[in-house]
Amino acid sequence: MPSTSLRGRRVLITSGPTREYLDPVRFLTNASSGAMGFALAAAARAAGARVSVVSGPTALRAPRGVEVVRVTAALEMRREVLRRVRAADLIIGAAAVCDWRLVRVARHKIKRGPGRVSMNLTPNPDIIKAAASRRRPGQVFIGFALETRAKEANARAKLKRKGLDLVAANGPSCLASGRARLTLVGRTGDVRLPEMPKARAARAILAEATRLLELRD
Ligand code: C5P
Repeated sequence: MPSTSLRGRRVLITSGPTREYLDPVRFLTNASSGAMGFALAAAARAAGARVSVVSGPTALRAPRGVEVVRVTAALEMRREVLRRVRAADLIIGAAAVCDWRLVRVARHKIKRGPGRVSMNLTPNPDIIKAAASRRRPGQVFIGFALETRAKEANARAKLKRKGLDLVAANGPSCLASGRARLTLVGRTGDVRLPEMPKARAARAILAEATRLLELRD
């Protein structure tokens, strides 16, 4: 079993979904539960790291001994991540960030009526990509890729496009489930993991992260 000691390391994790409000009561989001991010936080803490999680709205209880910064929208998540990224050794983007936000949020509840309604959406910034573009020597950046097809090829493209060291590729069955079937796509090759509980998948990701951190020491 490879070592997973993260003693003395600082780990920053994004977790959960984000929400983009249309009006004061309605929002766009996705089915992420935040389970993978919290599993990673718990495993990193157990491995001796100082852990911060920037988490979107979730019903799950945060792991003990971990700093949790609660955010709602992608722009808030980005701000809180960029504030902390320099101090971190390992940065993991496990959040399912909402890809778009409303150009204008209605101040009052939009009234129901017989007519069609359209939304004007603008893309949200890529948080993990922005964080990795500020990379300092020794840091390791890990992302996730949720794919319904060509899992490894898409994950590899993301690895390059976002400037990451590792991408954990999974399928939609992972969302809001306690289990994950991951392929770890790295710069030098892939590791295909069997389906397993997210707690175990988190330990497998951290074992690989530890190896990458030690290569940079
Ligand atoms: O491009 P895609 O959304 O598939 O990439 C997924 C990876 O990028 C995840 O690690 C996710 O946390 C991160 N991401 C991000 N900001 C976005 C979109 C995705 O950090 N706006």
